[in-house]
Amino acid sequence: MNTGFSDELIRRLRAAQRVVVLTGAGISAESGVPTFRAPDGLWSKFKPEELANMEAFLRNPALVWQWYQHRRDILETVKPNPGHETLAEMERHYPDFIIYTQNVDGLHQRAGSRRVAELHGNISRCRCTTCLQIIQEIDRGQDGIPRCPCGGMARPDVVWFGEMLPEGMMEQGYRDVAAADVFMVIGTSGVVYPAASLATLASRSEAYCIEINTEPSALSDAMDAVLIGPSGEVLPALWREVAPQLHF
Ligand code: OAD
Repeated sequence: MNTGFSDELIRRLRAAQRVVVLTGAGISAESGVPTFRAPDGLWSKFKPEELANMEAFLRNPALVWQWYQHRRDILETVKPNPGHETLAEMERHYPDFIIYTQNVDGLHQRAGSRRVAELHGNISRCRCTTCLQIIQEIDRGQDGIPRCPCGGMARPDVVWFGEMLPEGMMEQGYRDVAAADVFMVIGTSGVVYPAASLATLASRSEAYCIEINTEPSALSDAMDAVLIGPSGEVLPALWREVAPQLHF
């Protein structure tokens, strides 16, 4: 783990008022949630084109639901880790602090973070493919597929390949990044757009850009500080130096 934090890094974090964070699967890895692109990650076992798009769902909704139910089951057994908890603590300290997450696992909220923009949706919610409303999972028909009261098939309320992100969320993200003093990108490979464009925009803005990842990513070259190590260790260690008066 990277332990020597530069003076500039600490100074920028102490002076910041507005902080924007972009997170990816890596921040939940230490909670036991699999990432996507690791050699043993989700996309090494399951092909996105067979599971994470509308055509796949219409072709075989039971198979797609089986996969999402498997991921929901994993989430019932896990809890937020010190990385999530440190971000929740940071939100209490800064006047303006927001997390844009690509994760659908809800772990930031469970850790106590309040301002969380879920760029790719949330796996615990369902949406009707017919009336498009967010629905509670009410009825699993004989085919095992949750149904909306209107009779339509329910799908997980996550963003699939080829779909738009929630309306207005990226635009708000660009505004937040443009006004940020510090931008942090944590646990993402940085290859999925438009989410990753928050980081590229930040690198061209006034914000001091910090990356935390177990290895260099597609975004590392554009960052002001790259901290190599697990976010569940690096974030608490960093925050202990930035805000030594606070106790966790
Ligand atoms: P990836 O699996 O692409 O990348 C995870 C990143 O986390 C990698 O760069 C790892 O090095 C890093 N990492 C792993 N363990 C870590 C740890 N303990 N601490 C810090 N970093 C760690 O996941 P994402 O970048 O989140 O989209 O993937 C982006 C999107 O691709 C996902 O939201 C998903 C997927 O297709 C949709 O489903 C729409």
